[in-house]
Amino acid sequence: MQVVKYMFQPHGDERGQLVSLEEHNDIPFSIKRVYFMYDTVDNVVRGRHAHKNLQQILFCVHGSCKVRLDNGKEKKVVPLEKPYEGLYIANYMWREMFDFSEDAVLMVLASELYNEDDYIRDYDEFLEFVKAEKL
Ligand code: TYD
Repeated sequence: MQVVKYMFQPHGDERGQLVSLEEHNDIPFSIKRVYFMYDTVDNVVRGRHAHKNLQQILFCVHGSCKVRLDNGKEKKVVPLEKPYEGLYIANYMWREMFDFSEDAVLMVLASELYNEDDYIRDYDEFLEFVKAEKL
């Protein structure tokens, strides 16, 4: 499984750091939605779903967390520990976000508006989709 993690170059100077993200230049899709999670409760696992038609890039802009990626055949755990690291996730990838630090803010850039119909929330159903789509 190929993990695509972007390392964006911060514009750092004596005042601190700044990261800029432009659609199509830095982000390989049009950004239709931004959401973020914070105040995540200890030991909680979020996500636990896949999407049929959605590209996303996840940034832990403060603190840290881990993301478990599962394409139905292989699993990988990707740590997000720096605000300039962006983890790209495309269709039919089961994801679980866990091990959030107390101060973690996980920001997600998404290629589509929120659409509950795009979610696959049942793991067995996800495996069926992977098989049917021959992914
Ligand atoms: P949920 O899908 O449970 O989060 P997770 O990524 O951990 O699976 O979303 C939590 C709630 O927020 C749920 O009621 C749906 C809502 N929500 C939106 O309204 N818009 C969004 O863009 C997202 C991601 C969630």
